[in-house]
Amino acid sequence: MSPYKYSTLAVHAGQYPDPRTGAVNVPVYLTSTFELTGIGTDRGWDYSRAGNPTRDRLEEALAALEGGTSGHAFASGMAAISALVASLRAGDHLLCSQDVYAGTVRLFNQFVSHYGIEIEYVDTSKIEAVAAAIRPNTKLVHIETPSNPTMVLSDIRAISEIAHARGVEMSVDNTFMSPVLQSPLALGADIVMHSTTKYLNGHSDGIGGALIGSKPEHKDRFLLVQKSSGAILSAFECFLVLRGIKTMPLRIKQHEENGRAVAEYLQTHPKVSRLNYPGLKSHPQYELAVRQQKGFGSMLSLDLGSRAAAGRFLGALKIFINAESLGGVESLASHSATTTHAALSDEERAAAGITEGLIRLSVGIEDKEDLIADIEQALKAV
Ligand SMILES: Cc1ncc(COP(=O)(O)O)c(C=O)c1O
Repeated sequence: MSPYKYSTLAVHAGQYPDPRTGAVNVPVYLTSTFELTGIGTDRGWDYSRAGNPTRDRLEEALAALEGGTSGHAFASGMAAISALVASLRAGDHLLCSQDVYAGTVRLFNQFVSHYGIEIEYVDTSKIEAVAAAIRPNTKLVHIETPSNPTMVLSDIRAISEIAHARGVEMSVDNTFMSPVLQSPLALGADIVMHSTTKYLNGHSDGIGGALIGSKPEHKDRFLLVQKSSGAILSAFECFLVLRGIKTMPLRIKQHEENGRAVAEYLQTHPKVSRLNYPGLKSHPQYELAVRQQKGFGSMLSLDLGSRAAAGRFLGALKIFINAESLGGVESLASHSATTTHAALSDEERAAAGITEGLIRLSVGIEDKEDLIADIEQALKAV
């Protein structure tokens, strides 16, 4: 447990001066291989797929920020999820939130299930449903909270207790909250997953992913996956994430303030038929959000009633960019049904509440009055 507060950790965890040169910034080791010191001896590194000094620093920072025992950086969020499930075997059962990023569903249904692993989706916002779905062969419960894009919350502490009572591991995709606003390991989860592409990098200039473990066994397991399947984050991209992490707590403060302001503006707008933002007192899971999160973040979704209305809104926005992804400094708006969740069938989308009029906003760090004015003028076009 670090004696330092979060903003101090963000600047310094893993990011100390280089012992050899004193360089204040973490050096970028663009090397595939390392000189060995003899037969079977080295200076700590032998080949960059297995380990690289720049990646080590990022992994150290990730572990500190999530309060874990080891961090592991991957080439994308999807590579991190692939590594998470890589050790499952034929006959194992994997329970997953029904409301997850569609790429996760695509990976599980189109690849993981072919290895004889049974995958079952449950509404993890309902504790009884999780308890009822755990079977003797369940090995992992994987949840995403808040979920993408409908912002449904699952109770991390309650689910981890249920899972642990049955000897099952639990992982949380913490991408939407960032390590600043939610600490799944402290709430009882075993493993945290991130798409570092989002708030950790924060500048929309790289793709990356991470797993943070809470037990020594996780370090060995995920290191073996990094070495064996090879989807590691390059040294240069590790540097970009390290750079992003330093300002993450500051950025999140502004994201958070802007997200709330936009949600408050939208909540009474006559053209918005549904607003999903757990930071509003009217949200059915507001109490859980207050209990489990350290803030409400800057992700929200709104329903404009039809695909045509959603299209007019997106076309009229001037500051918000019509683009997928989230967590960068710039505000983005996207039509979930045809972008992030296009991989789902119509039935799956309907079950997840992803309607044709649903727009997801990732509220950036611009001036909040400018953002609200942009939304106001775009809603006039609807
Ligand atoms: C919640 C969540 N998890 C995982 C991913 C996958 O991450 P990546 O795009 O870095 O592979 C995304 C991407 O949007 C996401 O939103």
